[in-house]
Amino acid sequence: MIGIFDSGVGGLSVFREIRKLLPEEKYIYYSDNAFCPYGEKTQEFITERARWITGLMVEKGADIIVVACNTATAAAIKTLREEHSDNSGSGNLRFIGMEPAIKPAAMTTATGVIGVLATSGTLQSEKYLRHKEKYASNVSILEHVGEGFVELVEKGIISGPEAEMVVRLSIEPLIEAGADTIVLGCTHYPFLAQTIKKICREICPDRNVTIIDPAPAVARHLQEVMSEEGLIRNDGYALDLLSSGDDDILKATAANLL
Ligand code: DGL
Repeated sequence: MIGIFDSGVGGLSVFREIRKLLPEEKYIYYSDNAFCPYGEKTQEFITERARWITGLMVEKGADIIVVACNTATAAAIKTLREEHSDNSGSGNLRFIGMEPAIKPAAMTTATGVIGVLATSGTLQSEKYLRHKEKYASNVSILEHVGEGFVELVEKGIISGPEAEMVVRLSIEPLIEAGADTIVLGCTHYPFLAQTIKKICREICPDRNVTIIDPAPAVARHLQEVMSEEGLIRNDGYALDLLSSGDDDILKATAANLL
């Protein structure tokens, strides 16, 4: 069984890519919506939540975990891997995390200006800073927290006047500074991709802005790892949706977003 978690419904943007490649697997999805957003929380807090959610998923039968949250990946995946490594005593468990898609963005940009939208937790993380140094030293990177994006998506609002107003505030500075490629560094943001594209076109109709969502690459990586480890079962699709907050809200939003 594949366990997937996020601070809320954002990880469903990763789940929908995974399900395309692995349609006959069993899934358990955990939305930590009682503690959402993770963006401004401490590394210790997020690690504690990630540890607890992992324990629950293992108890329910998960044998591989996707940390479908950039903020939680940056804060906790190293600890989770250490605590579930071969010699940890608690048995080997594989974790797949989110990678900031800076490398493909640096290869795609024609203007040499990339916009990265993510939470402040992700943008300040060691993992992100290392990635940036390694793959993007020859381009200019503009970072912006998608202020209000997570809250919109949690409410299931992904288009219309309210979404456009919120999105414009974060996108405008990036486009005006010349960005032609925008990396979505938070798993909630891909649900707003159509609105982001619309706003980009309105601000600069002549520029073809590429939006990069790392979820398809993460799904391919998961498939490779599961195939190598003999974890693909192909025994029929099932999805169990769980949350620390209101399950009904999660189910309604999930139905709307998926
Ligand atoms: N979806 C999450 C991410 O990918 C976190 C959003 C939040 O809880 O702040 O970073």
